[in-house]
Amino acid sequence: MSNIIDGKLVSSAVKERVANEVKELNHKGISVCLAVILVGSDPASQIYVANKKKACEQLGIISKEYLLPETATQDELLALVNELNADKTVNGILCQLPLPKGLDEKVVIEAIDPNKDVDAFHPVNVGRIMIGDYDFLPCTPAGVMEMLSFYNIDVCGKECVVIGRSNIVGKPMSMLLLHKNGTVTIAHSRTQNLAEVTRRADILVAAVGKAKFVTADMVKDGAVVIDVGMNRADGKLCGDVDFDPVSKKASYITPVPGGVGPMTIATLMQNTLTAAKRQNNIN
Ligand code: GUN
Repeated sequence: MSNIIDGKLVSSAVKERVANEVKELNHKGISVCLAVILVGSDPASQIYVANKKKACEQLGIISKEYLLPETATQDELLALVNELNADKTVNGILCQLPLPKGLDEKVVIEAIDPNKDVDAFHPVNVGRIMIGDYDFLPCTPAGVMEMLSFYNIDVCGKECVVIGRSNIVGKPMSMLLLHKNGTVTIAHSRTQNLAEVTRRADILVAAVGKAKFVTADMVKDGAVVIDVGMNRADGKLCGDVDFDPVSKKASYITPVPGGVGPMTIATLMQNTLTAAKRQNNIN
């Protein structure tokens, strides 16, 4: 039976660290502020945005919410982004994705000032991650790295297999593992003999978006298994990993819920703090 990687525990530790630093900044007369834009009324997005707001409040970060109707135009959204870019009291800007049909995510992402881009989605920040010289870490992959570090799981020299090649998770995840000297393979929907590839992994990250996709036969004995999935199956939240059988083989495993999920918000808070520090020339 494997050890459970407790995302709530690790995220609490990160959030406590951030809250302490926010307090220190406040004592110096510096406030920390995150602006979140939500366009439309997608129920999942509403929950994510509410959770981000709650985390800000817990940590002493000022949260500003901008709710635009489903009918908002690209120009209206860009005007808001430009206003927030220019607003010196706003340190971080996040536009919740996906956007309603008719709005171009790429244009909006590229309109956000890279210095306020706490999602790390702007091409400038993506490029910096590639080079390994970055301020903002993409929230989900950074959350995974924080969990590995908390549990003293060394990446150096290990076979790391990431299943999924999205811009938000798979690609940046691979880069962060590479920066820690992992031997990284990115597997995806076209990978041949997938189980053969994943069985090589000492550290296996599943970011596929398919419920219980990773089965026990795809996992090496003693592997560390990180489940980034967030799926609904039979009305229940479940990950990309078939948890019960895989947990019998893995040395460490993240549950869903309670694994990677809570980490993403903690990293967002960390990025917002970093933005405020950079904008106030504090290292
Ligand atoms: N929608 C789902 N995940 C994310 C995220 O990390 N950032 C943004 N902006 N939108 C999302």
